[in-house]
Amino acid sequence: MGHSFSGAAVVAGVVGAPVRHSLSPLIHNAWLAGAGIDGAYVPFAPEPSQFAAFVTGLRGGVVRGLNVTIPFKEEALALADQASARAKAAGAANLLIFEAGGAILADNTDGLGLLAAFAEQAPGFDPAAAPVVILGAGGAARGAAAAFAAAGCPQVRVVNRTLARAEALAAELDGPLAAFPLEGAAQAMEGVGAIVNATSAGLSGSAALDLPLEGAPATAIVMDMVYKPLRTELLARAEAAKLSTVDGLAMLIGQAAPAFDAFYGAPPPKDVDVRTLALAALGEAPARKRERI
Ligand code: ATR
Repeated sequence: MGHSFSGAAVVAGVVGAPVRHSLSPLIHNAWLAGAGIDGAYVPFAPEPSQFAAFVTGLRGGVVRGLNVTIPFKEEALALADQASARAKAAGAANLLIFEAGGAILADNTDGLGLLAAFAEQAPGFDPAAAPVVILGAGGAARGAAAAFAAAGCPQVRVVNRTLARAEALAAELDGPLAAFPLEGAAQAMEGVGAIVNATSAGLSGSAALDLPLEGAPATAIVMDMVYKPLRTELLARAEAAKLSTVDGLAMLIGQAAPAFDAFYGAPPPKDVDVRTLALAALGEAPARKRERI
């Protein structure tokens, strides 16, 4: 990465399985270099069965913190001694901080990243102005639904292939939530301000969701958490229908910024264009492997 660090460097990293394709080291190390911070950010890929041993072994703060990605976000929350309200609401942690006294703190910045992505790529969007559709009912959908509910969204409509999972999510989370089956997507899209894809459909070679976007208002914004490919089939269809879009890379960078601040005690430098760096890295990576936040 071109920058060096001293024996006093602040060390943080990302843990996932696999973690090889993570863009987080690229993003954080570019910010570190740009800000001239004496710090490092490294990838960790423990055997899934060793995740708990790895994390608890970091107690004491020699490593300042970790970003957590698939498949460890739920386990990370469970291992922490304390968790933020938003991590609890999401049922998952994407950020662990190791305090010098030994405590492990869990947080979740994915919701901030999601709203930051809208703020950046759809600046007129107000999450409190109209209902939104969240597609999916897994961990990613739960985090998105919690973030929109916390942002004052009047109704969060969880649309899922398996209705029972959508109903369970809607019942669990605080806030104005409603559950719809995938067949009811057209009805769910009536009057919405945004549609967020938090399913894994379209990943690992499976077919993309075939959504009735014509049921959405002309002002609706379509967001996809998938960032590889950046222009997903859903986003391409939204563009064809003249709807504005928000991409998953904006969310990835949006969740990284508050994590950087938590690790290194300063916000990322504004003059480092990590999006361009990430796009270059995505372009070089094998096209057939798809990635989602
Ligand atoms: P994560 O925790 O990462 O969000 P998950 O818990 O596996 O992942 O959830 C994946 C989501 O994508 C689920 O909502 C799943 O729908 P089901 O609950 O019906 O399984 C959804 N999903 C995955 N493949 C899909 C497909 N081909 N069509 C529709 N929904 C799909």
